[in-house]
Amino acid sequence: MTRSKIELGDVTPHNIKQLKLLNQVVFPVSYNEKFYKDVLEAGELAKLAYYNDIVVGAVCCRVDTSENSRRLYIMTLGCLYPYRRLGIGTVMVQHVLNYVNKDGNFDSIFLHVQISNEGAIDFYKKFGFEIVETKEHYYKRIEPADAHVLQKTLRPRTNQTNHQTVN
Ligand SMILES: CC(C)(COP(=O)(O)OP(=O)(O)OC[C@H]1O[C@@H](n2cnc3c(N)ncnc32)[C@H](O)[C@@H]1OP(=O)(O)O)[C@@H](O)C(=O)NCCC(=O)NCCS
Repeated sequence: MTRSKIELGDVTPHNIKQLKLLNQVVFPVSYNEKFYKDVLEAGELAKLAYYNDIVVGAVCCRVDTSENSRRLYIMTLGCLYPYRRLGIGTVMVQHVLNYVNKDGNFDSIFLHVQISNEGAIDFYKKFGFEIVETKEHYYKRIEPADAHVLQKTLRPRTNQTNHQTVN
């Protein structure tokens, strides 16, 4: 018997419709044309996940430079329901972790998750993400509207005052 295989592949103009369909099925919010235009330019930050050559998942990230830090923001990371708990989400997170480690210049990775999405919260906690904030009314068209911010810190912030020499 051959083993099941999980692989990641690039998002291209030829398969972007598969990504759109997948996101429509997996996420309760919809993403606009600008999102998909940016994804096509995202290189390693956007990937489709294949299970035995079928598209079953996708991850889309962008670099965020707000709040005086360089952070990787996971916009979407999802897998079709029948293919969950097979390690596909893990392969996608691992890809993101490899990316930031190789780059070496990110402070953290973060994402928003609906407060009711306990499965995703448990999933991300496995990779060292923590709830750092809860934003009320973050979502406009879905209930519950509140979101947790999940964050994984990659390097400690250098705090100048901690390094002052006392004369
Ligand atoms: C969250 C999600 C991406 C996980 O993907 P997945 O392919 O099922 O994850 P994996 O199989 O790699 O799971 C790895 C581990 O995470 C934990 N985990 C994953 N889903 C879980 C769940 N529903 N409940 C509890 N723990 C969970 C488990 O420890 C699991 O290991 P195990 O199966 O050996 O117990 C998937 O459930 C999903 O697509 N959800 C909808 C989209 C979403 O909410 N995305 C998050 C916001 S971007």
